[in-house]
Amino acid sequence: MDHFLYKDGALHAEDVAISEIAAAVGTPFYVYSAATLTRHFQLFDAALEGTDHLVCFAIKSNSNLAVLKLLGNLGAGMDVVSGGEYRRARAAGIPGERIVFSGVGKTREEITLALTGGVRQFNVESEPELRAISEIASALGVVAPIALRVNPDVDAKTHEKIATGKSENKFGIPIAKARAVYAEAAKLSGIAVVGVDVHIGSQLTELAPFEAAFTKVRDLTLALREDGHDIRRLDLGGGLGIPYTRSNEAPPLPTEYGAMIKRVLGDLGCEIEIEPGRLISGNAGLMVSSVIYVKEGEGRDFLILDAAMNDLVRPSMYGAHHDIVPVVEPAAGTEPAAFDIVGPVCETGDTFAKGRNMTPLASGDLVAFRSAGAYGAVMSSEYNSRPLIPEVLVEGDHFAVIRQRPSFEEMLSRDSIPVWL
Ligand code: LLP
Repeated sequence: MDHFLYKDGALHAEDVAISEIAAAVGTPFYVYSAATLTRHFQLFDAALEGTDHLVCFAIKSNSNLAVLKLLGNLGAGMDVVSGGEYRRARAAGIPGERIVFSGVGKTREEITLALTGGVRQFNVESEPELRAISEIASALGVVAPIALRVNPDVDAKTHEKIATGKSENKFGIPIAKARAVYAEAAKLSGIAVVGVDVHIGSQLTELAPFEAAFTKVRDLTLALREDGHDIRRLDLGGGLGIPYTRSNEAPPLPTEYGAMIKRVLGDLGCEIEIEPGRLISGNAGLMVSSVIYVKEGEGRDFLILDAAMNDLVRPSMYGAHHDIVPVVEPAAGTEPAAFDIVGPVCETGDTFAKGRNMTPLASGDLVAFRSAGAYGAVMSSEYNSRPLIPEVLVEGDHFAVIRQRPSFEEMLSRDSIPVWL
């Protein structure tokens, strides 16, 4: 459930009309609903009630400081994968003990930053990384809490670009090798083994792959304890999928996911961490755009929008579907027609949808892309020298711009022309 509904024929974010925000900030823009973000976080928190747990929001899905602050105020931890994300978490007031540092290639600078600023644990993805953390922690005279990210060789049954749990993927340490690497970790100075980490992919729409992976983690935990390791924390990653269409998709709910976790792992006495991104932020955001032109083509008509692949890359990058709805609710009985919905960028790949049924729209009309709160703004770029688009947060009947649209002067000022030119 989200908080983007038509009221009196006009699409609203909570109690604010989308058209009102468009008039204030111009299009395109992202808008997030505080109530939806809150609801989604609390669903996970409630799903793990009764077990010691921490829900660590995957910042990569939406890294705006206001979003992080909102979730942090609710008690969320954060999952970060770069020094930039670590800095964002800290700037949003999240204490180090609630920040998990994931990522397949942490640099020495990033490791140092987290060790000096405070970190709950590193999720370590390789032996060289483990040794680097040991060296840096020892030199700083501190102890780095670590979990090894194991690769369980499980098929997540999701898009190949976002599946991470098969042995051919670059992620984690093969589970068959894990005991040996844990044994090495236990001998290294500056390292404290605290847990096991796993993340098998994103936009999973079934529980079975999670359960298969978590069962392997369970077996590993028992084996590691026999080996003498103090495994007290299990980080189960993120990945629970969301419905991208309103009609036929019904991925498992956080309650079902939580119940499965408790069933498979509940008796181990471990603290459970999860790292959801998309399920918290995805359906909490829209991207709003205006129609620039309606163009009649040969055999097909195009809606040319002022948003493009640089603003929301998911359709061109993954062939992803986003529902696109008019901001003014169509009158009952209006006949839809098929359109190709495209942006102005000079690539055929700049296509949001092909042959999409839409009620007729005219130049200047507003449309909203649903499910755009995750992996939308964070993946945007300035391709075609299009400035990054603003982000807006709505709470009840008010809204705030939480990232300004940069001016062209700001964009150009980052370049410099060498003196010899
Ligand atoms: N933890 C780790 C270690 C991850 O790599 C990811 C996502 C998450 C948590 C959060 O997964 P989520 O709950 O959001 O599924 N750009 C792609 C998604 C890439 C996901 C990468 N890792 C997209 O737009 O679909």
